[in-house]
Amino acid sequence: MANYLQDQRKVTTHRLAEMKQRGEKIAMLTAYDYSMARLIDEAGMDVILVGDSASNVMAGNMTTLPMTLDQMIYHAKSVVKGVKRALVVCDLPFGSYQGNSKEALASAVRIMKESHAEAVKMEGGSEIRESIERVLCAGIPVMGHLGLTPQSINKFGTYAVRAKEEAEANKLIEDAQMLEEIGCFALVLEKIPATLATRVSQEVNIPVIGIGAGGGVDGQVLVMHDMLGINKGFSPRFLRRYADLSTIINDAVAHYIDDVKTSDFPNEKEQY
Ligand code: KIV
Repeated sequence: MANYLQDQRKVTTHRLAEMKQRGEKIAMLTAYDYSMARLIDEAGMDVILVGDSASNVMAGNMTTLPMTLDQMIYHAKSVVKGVKRALVVCDLPFGSYQGNSKEALASAVRIMKESHAEAVKMEGGSEIRESIERVLCAGIPVMGHLGLTPQSINKFGTYAVRAKEEAEANKLIEDAQMLEEIGCFALVLEKIPATLATRVSQEVNIPVIGIGAGGGVDGQVLVMHDMLGINKGFSPRFLRRYADLSTIINDAVAHYIDDVKTSDFPNEKEQY
C-alpha cells in the first residue's frame, strides 16, 4: 500500500504545507453531502471542498451565483459529519464577503460555527484583500482562488482560459504573492496556462492547487460529479473521467423499473 494511504492522521493546514515542502502532491475533490463525503474520505482524500459548484451539480443552476450562505452551511454540515481525516474547506458564496470586511467575517464565522468546516475559500485578489485579512485575523484559515473565478462569470462573459495576456498574468502573480503574504494557507488556480501556474507554484511557499492549470502545481482539484461521470454534459479538456456513473445509475434504475413492472421484485426472500 502506498505511504500516503497508510497515513491516517487528520489533515491540517500545517500538514498541507509539509506536503508541499516534501513534494507530495495534494489531492482535493468536492463533496456536498454526508454519504459521498464519507466515501471520498475513506478513499484517502487530503482536502474535501464544499464548493459553491453545488449550485450547478446539486441545484441545477447555470452559475454558482445563486448559492446562499444558509445553503453552503447545510452542505458543509452534512459533509463534515462524514469526514474523519480530510481537511474540510467551505466556499464563501457570492455576495457573502465582497461588500465589506465585517460582512466577510460574519459569513466566515457562521460557516465555522454552524458547519464545523475547518477553513473557507474566497475568490479574488487585491479587490477583496481587506475582507480576507479580516477573516484571517479571526483565526479562520483562508484558501485563495485566482484565475477563472466562477463567481465573476458575468464580468468575464465566458468560461475561457484566463490570464493568457501579460497584464492579467502579472496581476495574478502579484495577487498570489499578496495572498501568501497576508497569510492564506493555500491557493486554487483555475483554468490558466500551465506555464503560469507552474511559475506561481514555484514563487510562493503556500500549496497551489490547480484545476485546468497543468501538472506543475502542488495538487489538483476536480468537481466530484464531473470526474465520476455523473454530469456528462461538461467536458473541458482538463477533465479526466474516472468512472461512468451516469451509465451505471441509468442501467441500475432501468433494471429496477423493469423488475417492478414484471413483478420480479420483490421475490419471496425479499418480503416478511
Ligand atoms: O466550487 C468549486 O467546486 C470550486 C472548484 C472548482 C475549485 O471552486
